[in-house]
Amino acid sequence: MSESRKPNLATNVGGVSVEPRSQTASDSDSDAQFEAVLASVDDVKGWMTPGQARLLWDSAKAVPAGGRIVEIGSFQGRSMIVLASAANPDVEIIAIDPHAGNDRGPNEIEGFDTEAESDNAVFNANLERAGVADRVRHVRKFSDDAHGDVEGDIDLLYIDGAHRFAPARADIDSWGARVVLDGTMLIHDSFSAVGVTLAQAAELAAATKWRYEGRSESMTNYRRVSPSAEVRKSNIVAHLAETPYLARNLLIKVMITAGFAGATRHLGNPSGEWPY
Ligand SMILES: C[S@@+](CC[C@H](N)C(=O)[O-])C[C@H]1O[C@@H](n2cnc3c(N)ncnc32)[C@H](O)[C@@H]1O
Repeated sequence: MSESRKPNLATNVGGVSVEPRSQTASDSDSDAQFEAVLASVDDVKGWMTPGQARLLWDSAKAVPAGGRIVEIGSFQGRSMIVLASAANPDVEIIAIDPHAGNDRGPNEIEGFDTEAESDNAVFNANLERAGVADRVRHVRKFSDDAHGDVEGDIDLLYIDGAHRFAPARADIDSWGARVVLDGTMLIHDSFSAVGVTLAQAAELAAATKWRYEGRSESMTNYRRVSPSAEVRKSNIVAHLAETPYLARNLLIKVMITAGFAGATRHLGNPSGEWPY
């Protein structure tokens, strides 16, 4: 990827932060557009913090004309509206979500069939209202069954589908394999959902072809690189450095489950909600 394709982000890996370059007029325009889009998704249900929205926005903006963005797990469209609003008009955008009532959200693993049917209708209505319905092709399938519906390489892959170990691992492995060199893979609920974290440990913690670039809360950012032993070493160190964040998230979940949601503010969780 050329420098111009790299998102302008302050990232933090193992405590080392990389400052963004100085602002230009077009950066300010993009900032204003971003703030407007962020405000517009305020009432769209989902799990995406402002920092995560910014990471999605910058990553989508960095995809060149003719490129392709794939999101696995779109729910009611909150993250997809950000991606589609940021992307160049000549970028293909695909949302993969079966809206089948499984892995819908925190503690909603099975049996949400009625809600899922309405998720699909709300997803369509939200994209329409945001003016991006024509920009997004929805593949209403499970991700492992959707490979044939997406042609060619992927420049930006956002994984936020099933959070159990086996499907999360399969998404990273089989969909990640389709990301171009210098392309980006973002993963939600990293170092927070146990299944996702184990999938990352299996596929990415010692990877040679993905470089861990940092995260915004639980959204991790990986770049596809040429394989090297150096990359493997830096990945191991960077993933180990996230152990305290993982421990904090697991403790918050235990406390919420045990009925002490309010006390999680002492762990930097003022909302008392499941961390994401
Ligand atoms: C946590 S929600 C996604 C939230 C969304 N990215 C947002 O920010 O609004 C998870 C979604 O993944 C979908 N899902 C579950 N299993 C899936 C699978 N195997 N492939 C694709 N999507 C899946 C669910 O239907 C649900 O809508």
